[in-house]
Amino acid sequence: MPDPTLPAARTVAELRAAVSAWRGAGRRVALVPTMGALHEGHLSLVRLGKSKADHVVASIFVNPTQFAPGEDFEAYPRDEARDAALLAGAGCDLLYAPTVAEMYPPGFSTSVDVGGVSTPLDGLARPTHFAGVATVVTKLLLQCRPDVAIFGEKDFQQLLVIRRLARDLDLPVEILGGPTKRDVDGLALSSRNAYLSVEERRVAGTLNLALKTAAEALAAGAAVDSVEAEAKARIASAGFGSIDYVEVRAEDDLGRLGPGPLESPARIFVAARIGRTRLIDNWPVRTPVT
Ligand code: PAF
Repeated sequence: MPDPTLPAARTVAELRAAVSAWRGAGRRVALVPTMGALHEGHLSLVRLGKSKADHVVASIFVNPTQFAPGEDFEAYPRDEARDAALLAGAGCDLLYAPTVAEMYPPGFSTSVDVGGVSTPLDGLARPTHFAGVATVVTKLLLQCRPDVAIFGEKDFQQLLVIRRLARDLDLPVEILGGPTKRDVDGLALSSRNAYLSVEERRVAGTLNLALKTAAEALAAGAAVDSVEAEAKARIASAGFGSIDYVEVRAEDDLGRLGPGPLESPARIFVAARIGRTRLIDNWPVRTPVT
């Protein structure tokens, strides 16, 4: 059961009624899409939304179309009562928690396919993932019609995919990124961190250090290809099982960069598995020339 202090909409009609009432009163609305299992990272996005709009809607929907067969859709943690209480505490005004049938009624057959920024990194490692994300986010934006929608920079590629689709489809919404929130050892907060054993959690805490070290080397003028290779070796020796990618990419369009020192703003991206958990993270690279 949701927190009694936080109103919940279960249908598009209920969501639209609430948002229309606010809009009719001249209020601005922010949307924070989530899949639940909330942590401080999500709550910081709600607070950011509150600073940009009069009312914040947070959606909780574990979107089946962005999980491939064999991924963790069934196991994904779900606790709406806990999430609703956290959202209410962070200043959220409305929880939107639709069912799968509400989002994907029988006969649903449309997919939003974003080219360019969807294709490298997680686009290669999880080939159906971004179409699922782009489709559900397009629906959420059209259902809610917020002035601003907020996404975490931890999923930096996802943020670029969503910016691209909003621009390409002329969606009248501002897409904002919120900074990654990290644990005391620097591990990026993620709902999937809950899967980690004590030993896996210790190893996971080294991932951000490998990125930070790589970013510092790049800032000092080291070549992209050698920095990528060193970061990969460091992550492998820390105890990660398999590494999908460690890549330095242009921050604006995720284009591949030349092998030498950086000449434009970049980020280093990683996806690596520890036990059965796949973690992603990214770190900005700031050089004197950028
Ligand atoms: O980042 C997430 O939690 C999801 O990918 C999103 C944006 C809510 C779409 O399902």
